[in-house]
Amino acid sequence: MRALPAAKRAFATVLTLCVCLLSACAPQSDVATTTAAEDDTQVLLGFSQLGSESAWRIGNTKSIQDAAKRAGVQLMYENAEQKQEKQIKAIRSFIAYQVDVIAFSPIVEDGWDNVLEEAKQAGIPVLITDRRINTTDESLIVGFVGSDFYAEGRRAGRFLLEKMAGQETVTIVEISGTVDSTPMRARGSGFRDELAGDARFTIVESVSGDFLRSKGKECMEGLLSRHAVIDVLFSHNDSMTLGAIEAIEEAGLAPGKDIVIVTVDGEQAAIDLLKEGKINCVVECTPLIGDMIMALAKRLAAGETIPRNIYSDERVFSEFDTDLDSLPPREY
Ligand code: AHR
Repeated sequence: MRALPAAKRAFATVLTLCVCLLSACAPQSDVATTTAAEDDTQVLLGFSQLGSESAWRIGNTKSIQDAAKRAGVQLMYENAEQKQEKQIKAIRSFIAYQVDVIAFSPIVEDGWDNVLEEAKQAGIPVLITDRRINTTDESLIVGFVGSDFYAEGRRAGRFLLEKMAGQETVTIVEISGTVDSTPMRARGSGFRDELAGDARFTIVESVSGDFLRSKGKECMEGLLSRHAVIDVLFSHNDSMTLGAIEAIEEAGLAPGKDIVIVTVDGEQAAIDLLKEGKINCVVECTPLIGDMIMALAKRLAAGETIPRNIYSDERVFSEFDTDLDSLPPREY
């Protein structure tokens, strides 16, 4: 742990009290800390979450907050509500508080160098979680923990190669996530690379639904109005898929039958629809990375080096599986 632990802890305690007082007045406060008892040996982790756009994100936040309590890590949590400038501001506040470690899930890939240079100058290690950044200076971050989005895109494509065997042409529409975010870029390229060798597949239109259910519905309504034939929907997350399914049903079509649906995340609602036959394939992307983040934060606070990349172990759920009824409940 770094210098001035007692002063820092005292400051964090005052901050916690202020936050408690503020949240009593403001029911939707977006700043929080753990309630774990503080002591001078506790690791202080500043975590900037990018928002709460999906069930996945809410599950991710819960995983991090619960894991911090279990691990005895004092967590300073801020929610940027989908705004990069709020994430940058949060990181600057963590630097000012002299936290031991900063972790954040970057909403988009570009534009982080300046604030991360400030963290580096302050001697605070920065771990990126879930999404990645685009930088020419790899020393600005100490590591990454999360999913392999490119592999997820390839898995989505691989399911279609099997599902559409025997069909002469396959018309695909894509609803992607937040523009310039890692999952939007990497899932899209993995999917295209997997299908590249098979000329039957054409992506006729790709639109962004920003990972939001409401926008997933709007996007699908537009796609249905512009394309007379849609064989497949590849949707980059379950929240948008749930919205798209509403639009498909309102158009009098049967999701999973008239339009094959491939989605990413694996939240409970999507697994339930897979069992009902309204979704054909769910590529898992787990938000449950809180324990890994806490273990890494402790190692970093102790001055250890960590691996550059740590990936979650993930699978695919599809209509071809025979174990769907025995799956344990999802935690998101
Ligand atoms: O970065 C992970 C993605 O972000 C998840 O797939 C999506 O649901 C979330 O909003």
